[in-house]
Amino acid sequence: MVSQLATIDDAGWTGATAAAPHKHAETLEAGDVLFFPGLAFDIASSELRLFSPELVARSKNVSFDPRSGRLGGTSLDGADRTSLRDLIARFSGAASTFVRGTLPAYRDRLEVGRASFRPVEIAGRASSWRKDDTRLHIDSFPATPVRGRRILRVFTNVNPHGRARSWRIGEDFERVATRFSSLLRMPVPGVAAWLRLIRVTKARRSRYDALMLQLHDRMKADTDYQAAVPQAPIDFPPGSTWMAFTDQVSHAAMAGQYQLEQTFLVPVEAMRDERRSPLRILERLFGRSLV
Ligand SMILES: [Fe+2]
Repeated sequence: MVSQLATIDDAGWTGATAAAPHKHAETLEAGDVLFFPGLAFDIASSELRLFSPELVARSKNVSFDPRSGRLGGTSLDGADRTSLRDLIARFSGAASTFVRGTLPAYRDRLEVGRASFRPVEIAGRASSWRKDDTRLHIDSFPATPVRGRRILRVFTNVNPHGRARSWRIGEDFERVATRFSSLLRMPVPGVAAWLRLIRVTKARRSRYDALMLQLHDRMKADTDYQAAVPQAPIDFPPGSTWMAFTDQVSHAAMAGQYQLEQTFLVPVEAMRDERRSPLRILERLFGRSLV
């Protein structure tokens, strides 16, 4: 019922493991988290000067787009800015190789999205309930519609002070969606085109994206649900890596500082069993096509 942690001890950054070729993809598609306790990402001693929450400007993360090479969300300039970009770019490349090696079923269908460096402590970070990632939620992007594609994320804890990144994980997606489905509304026709026109979204928001945003909000806004739903705490120690479909796994990040993350988008058609995708589950619940 609650997502599980599947531990893999023998992976390096090439992604090759002794498991059957599609075992890891099937584990992820079932809504579990792949955990690589010994997979550390090396930070050079000269890079440790970059480890400060002060390097983010107003955002909570530094972001890096591997397609354009563009760095965002930091006020650093000069040599420090170059070093920070090189660090995130190196992680982005390693994560791409890693995912292709670990998940050969998706290898030729992956779209590489943004990477991020998260230098700000999560616990006690002031924010609105909607932006509060210490509440259980599924990921959904307000500005960049995915139109049913899966959100696959690789995370590495690079905390230099020995501190874990603490998550909670909740019940499986079908249960979450069923629980909240009566509160979700189909978007009004025309709104998606309007949001695109005024550049709130970078592409047209599909019905799927609209429902996923509502689900994200309904979960976070419901304090009784947050307290009562079956859930499990997980600590990811420094020097460990993990991977999950975060559009599917109900998760909350409770504490931790200094994490690297790379996002990928995976078309549902590349899945071993697309019936397990949030898109197909919501389409079954609502009895209609959503993209
Ligand atoms: Fe999240």
